[in-house]
Amino acid sequence: MPSESGANLLARLRELAAFSDEPGRLTRLYLSPAHVAAAQYVRAWMQQAGLDATIDAVGNVVGVLEGGTSMQRVLTGSHYDTVINAGKYDGRLGIVLPIAVAGHLRRTRLRPPFTLEIIAFAEEEGVRFKSTFLGSRAVAGCFDSSDLASIDASGTTLADALRAAGHDVSAIPAIARDAAQVACFLEVHIEQGPVLLDAALPVGVVTSIAGSVRSIVAVEGRCGHAGTVPMALRRDAAAAAAEMVLAVERRCSEQPGLVGTVGRLEVPGGAINVIPGRCEFSIDIRSGSDALRDAAAADIGAAIRSIAERRHVKADQRRVLEAASVPCAAALQDAWAASVLRITGHPAMRLPSGAGHDAMMMASLTAVGMLFVRCGNGGISHHPDETLSTADAETAARVFQDFLLHFQVSP
Ligand code: HGY
Ligand code: MN
Ligand code: MN
Repeated sequence: MPSESGANLLARLRELAAFSDEPGRLTRLYLSPAHVAAAQYVRAWMQQAGLDATIDAVGNVVGVLEGGTSMQRVLTGSHYDTVINAGKYDGRLGIVLPIAVAGHLRRTRLRPPFTLEIIAFAEEEGVRFKSTFLGSRAVAGCFDSSDLASIDASGTTLADALRAAGHDVSAIPAIARDAAQVACFLEVHIEQGPVLLDAALPVGVVTSIAGSVRSIVAVEGRCGHAGTVPMALRRDAAAAAAEMVLAVERRCSEQPGLVGTVGRLEVPGGAINVIPGRCEFSIDIRSGSDALRDAAAADIGAAIRSIAERRHVKADQRRVLEAASVPCAAALQDAWAASVLRITGHPAMRLPSGAGHDAMMMASLTAVGMLFVRCGNGGISHHPDETLSTADAETAARVFQDFLLHFQVSP
């Protein structure tokens, strides 16, 4: 059975899913013991596939398959961190699949005429430190050293977490690649939505990745006894936040192509008999159009200020991510589409991505191209019910291999 067969890929994805911070469900946050162990496991897979494999100063696992004489390499990869209570495929398919294909190419001496670098990015989901794309930022040369002071829920700084995992923080800037030596970045990822499923297609070519603006809002009101303070005299931070959440929903429902989500909402130290003095929540606003998204973000910011004023609470809004929408390179879309046609016999569907991907960050370094693979279960993702069929995984591997064998880099 060829190493890139669907059953083999799914078996590896299940094996990788065993590295979790929590028993009984998959949560693998950046630099946790499970995350560090997963990196070593991925490096061992790369070595078994015959790649030179190393772990860099932010925890990216990098495997290199040497080939050709061009100074330009093709980069591919995705992330191995997860959300809380994640599925098995988000990010990880874009690591496991290229490793299997590279191993197969090496064994069958069908090497592509260029060096292929596979990067398992250490952090993309932004769960632990609320800053996202830490792995691909470092490779793209966009790592912001002020992020080193970010703290996780227990007060540990990013710099301390890196040191505790054995990394040399001063080596991070050197991770940045030289754009002149990179031909392109490719990412294979599950679609995380229902479009391919609905169209009965195993794979599709991504046209663009929606941009996003993310903020953390901290509302400060006044604590008090739940039984003694009359309603008119309260400054309830959670009630104010509730109104703000509805403002996000209302504004983002006004226009098609715009989405807004409050995915975290908490009353730190809250109790059933205490009026909330503080409430914190996150806002994630996305659109394929940066103008639409920015206008919505501005309106929501103004709505939050006005709700805060009326309710006599303070609302501190902190932007933690601003990512412009990213087009996938036309030539790479066409090259993916040609591979899809050769392998499946059907013209490729082209579709935008509403989810963020490492390719967004890599686009600041080089041209990017993405292949989406159909999900089952209605396309559910960021959830343990995320699914992928062995047949679709195998089709994606064949398309990826075909792409590599037909792609030309500059001499
Ligand atoms: O949130 C996203 O779009 C990605 O899955 N991190
Ligand atoms: Mn994700
Ligand atoms: Mn992902």
